[in-house]
Amino acid sequence: MQSSSKVSQLNQTDNKLVEVENLVVRFPILDNGHRAYIRPVDEVSFTIDSGEVLALVGESGSGKSTIAKALLRIVEPQSGTIRVQGNDVTHWRGGRLTTYRKNVQMVFQDPFGSLNPVRTVEHHIAYPLQKHRHLHGRALRDMVGSLLERVGLTPVEETRVKYPHELSGGQRQRVAIARALAVNPKFLVADEPISMLDVSIRAGILKLLNELRSEFNLGYLYITHDLASARYFGHRIMVLYGGKVMETAPSHELIRNPSHPYTRLLLAATPGSGLDGPLPETSNQAPSLIEGRTGCPFAERCPLVVDACRKEDPPVVRLSEGHEVACHVV
Ligand SMILES: Nc1ncnc2c1ncn2[C@@H]1O[C@H](COP(=O)(O)OP(=O)(O)OP(=O)(O)O)[C@@H](O)[C@H]1O
Ligand SMILES: [Mg+2]
Repeated sequence: MQSSSKVSQLNQTDNKLVEVENLVVRFPILDNGHRAYIRPVDEVSFTIDSGEVLALVGESGSGKSTIAKALLRIVEPQSGTIRVQGNDVTHWRGGRLTTYRKNVQMVFQDPFGSLNPVRTVEHHIAYPLQKHRHLHGRALRDMVGSLLERVGLTPVEETRVKYPHELSGGQRQRVAIARALAVNPKFLVADEPISMLDVSIRAGILKLLNELRSEFNLGYLYITHDLASARYFGHRIMVLYGGKVMETAPSHELIRNPSHPYTRLLLAATPGSGLDGPLPETSNQAPSLIEGRTGCPFAERCPLVVDACRKEDPPVVRLSEGHEVACHVV
C-alpha cells in the first residue's frame, strides 16, 4: 500500500481521452448576509479513455452535475485543468470552444425537458447536422433516417414527423441520444439518463448506449445515484461525496472490496450488492460545501471518524492498480 498526492490520482498518458486534474468549481452564496462561497467540486481528478465508461456515483448535491457542466464548459472552473485528447481546453473560447462543444455531447436526465415541444423529431436531429456538418437536402434527410434507425426509432418515416409529446420517455431519450450522436462526438456525458424512465425500459437505453460506445469508441462519464447501474454500465466507478472524490476503482473491485466508509454505506443501501444487511448507525447531516471547511466532508457521518478527519484533508491511498481511496483510517 502506498500513499500518493492528489495529483497522482491522475495517471497521465498520451492515450487518455479526458484528463481532469484538481478541478475546483465554486459558487457565491449569501451566508447570514455575508458573501461566501461553496465548493461543490473540490480538487477532483480523474481520467477517461476512449471506449471507457467512468461511472460517477454520489448522493444529491454531491457535485455530479457541476462536474459535468465544467467538462462541457458551461460553468467556469475556479482552478484545475481539463484536457481532452491532450489539449488543455480549460480556457478555450470562440471558435475553438464551439468545436470542443461539438466533440463533447450531453444526454440529460429529463428527456422531455431537453426537447423542444413545438419541434418534430426530424428537426431535433437535423439541426446539429446542418449546423456542424453542413448537410442539406437529400443527404440531410438520409442521415436523419439512419440515425433514427440506429437508435431503434422505427418505423423511421412515422417517427420523423412526431412531436415530443407523442413519444414515450424511452423514445424521447433515444431522440436525445441520436441528436448527441449526430455531430460525431468523441465523448458523451450522460447525467442520470435513465433515472426518470420506467424500470422496464432502463436496460434498453443502457444497452443502446453501450452498443454506441463500442461502435464509435466513445468515452462516457455516466452520472448516477445508483451503484447497481454504475456497476452494470461502468468500467470504473468514482464515488463522490461533498464535492470530493472518496474512492475510485475498477467496478468489480469497488463492489468486491469497498474501502471507504462512505462506499460501504452506499453498498449497504444497495439491495443485491452482497454487502447489504443492517445499515450502519450514521447521521443524516448533509456535508458542508462551504469554502474553507477543513478535513473530510464525510467526517460528520463516518462511523470510523478520528480527530484528523475533521482537521486535515485525507491522503489519497493507492490500495491496488487503479484503486484509490481518500481516507485517514483505511
Ligand atoms: N449555479 C449555481 N449556483 C449556486 N449553487 C449551485 C449552482 N449549481 C449548483 N449549485 C449547488 O452546488 C451543489 C451541487 O449541485 P449539483 O447539481 O452538482 O449536485 P448533483 O450531485 O448533481 O445532485 P443531484 O443528484 O440532485 O442532481 C448543490 O448544493 C447545488 O445547490
Ligand atoms: Mg445532478
